[in-house]
Amino acid sequence: MKIVHGYFSPNGETKKIANIFYDELGGKLIDLTYPQSRVDHRRVNADLYILSLPVYSQNIPRPLRKFLIHIKAPFVFINLTYGGFSYGNVLFKIKKQLRVSRVVGYTVSPVKHAYIDQNLTIDKSAFDSSIKKLQSNILEEIHIPYRFNHIFASLFEKSRTRHKFKLNVNLNMCTQCNICIKECPTGSITQSIKILDSCISCEHCVHVCPENAITSKKSFLLKHYLKKNQKTSVIVR
Ligand SMILES: Cc1cc2nc3c(=O)[nH]c(=O)nc-3n(C[C@H](O)[C@H](O)[C@H](O)COP(=O)(O)O)c2cc1C
Repeated sequence: MKIVHGYFSPNGETKKIANIFYDELGGKLIDLTYPQSRVDHRRVNADLYILSLPVYSQNIPRPLRKFLIHIKAPFVFINLTYGGFSYGNVLFKIKKQLRVSRVVGYTVSPVKHAYIDQNLTIDKSAFDSSIKKLQSNILEEIHIPYRFNHIFASLFEKSRTRHKFKLNVNLNMCTQCNICIKECPTGSITQSIKILDSCISCEHCVHVCPENAITSKKSFLLKHYLKKNQKTSVIVR
């Protein structure tokens, strides 16, 4: 069985889970975090596609939505990561986007939230039963129930995020190393370090800038939201 592992992981947590599956099952590992890679790997052939992605604003991260339509594998297994707050109806939305593939299982894992300075370790053993199931080669479609989705999850998505989260660039501190430009998962940083509208607020540029020239400003409401209790257990199906 040809297995492909595709992951989108601006800040590296989802990648850790994709690697657990790759180490156990083998196959081909594809990093879908960068724009060119999402173009290059649109039509890969696989019998089983292991798709690993984070939840963004109770939704599929914008750069991946169109990409999912191109997955042609008959079977898909989903590893969803989230910051422990809410993953909304994302599994159902992914299933709808996949079109031709049958979903044979999923995991939903709370991981370090990109906006919170925290140390969370991923317990590998939580994935043992999923890996065993996939190794058995007996793949059966599972039902993904519709879950409650915050009513605003799909409305005014961009403007809501922009209102809650702003990036500031201090050009006096910038040394034009271009790391942020190369590392941006959406190609949203121009040569003059202007942040374009296509930015998904993943904050990766903030973390990779060696001069700390890019900083983020979060609204009072977002800061308040991030203080809520986070879930800690992995859901496996
Ligand atoms: C723009 C943005 C939106 C997010 N929205 C949610 C959310 O709705 N619910 C949640 O629990 N976590 C949310 N998170 C946390 C991410 O799901 C978490 O940081 C992610 O799993 C990290 O994946 P990565 O390290 O592979 O990039 C959000 C993070 C970002 C950057």
